[in-house]
Amino acid sequence: MTEKMAAAICEQIGRELAAHLEYLSIAAHFDADGLPELTRFFSDQAQEEHDHAMKFLAYVMEAGGPVTLPGVDGPRQTFASAEEAVELSLEWEKAVTGHINDLVDLALEQKDHATRAMLDWFVTEQVEEVAVMGELLQVVRRAGEGGLLLVEDYVARSAAGAGAGAGEGAAPA
Ligand SMILES: [Fe+2]
Ligand SMILES: [Fe+2]
Repeated sequence: MTEKMAAAICEQIGRELAAHLEYLSIAAHFDADGLPELTRFFSDQAQEEHDHAMKFLAYVMEAGGPVTLPGVDGPRQTFASAEEAVELSLEWEKAVTGHINDLVDLALEQKDHATRAMLDWFVTEQVEEVAVMGELLQVVRRAGEGGLLLVEDYVARSAAGAGAGAGEGAAPA
């Protein structure tokens, strides 16, 4: 792997860790609002982002690229509404999808097929991440701020349907 490719992946590690913090902050927001299912959902999302960071890091280390980790911006601390928090999450996921696509472009440009193959998992994962967050946003909007207990039911049902502890790849946990 070239240094340029390694550096680009390390930038992505920073973004995954920033998303980890963002989702922890959102989980804490919902916890303070007394919404345990949304709290669990965002805690699980935070864990997934951490897993993504570790997966990228393991790859760069294995492929022998230099590891140069960036600083990570702090998360947003306050959210005016559930809708705002979920909107922000959807924006994050869309932005991450764009960055993953850029990494694929760079891997192709460099004829780095090992990295391109590693990135395939993330390309597929992002389709699901954007879909899950987009659907949650729709549900939150439909329920309205007064109807967040309906959202709690939706999140609980989705988690039950996906199977407890199914982890990565299970929607929407
Ligand atoms: Fe991620
Ligand atoms: Fe994500």
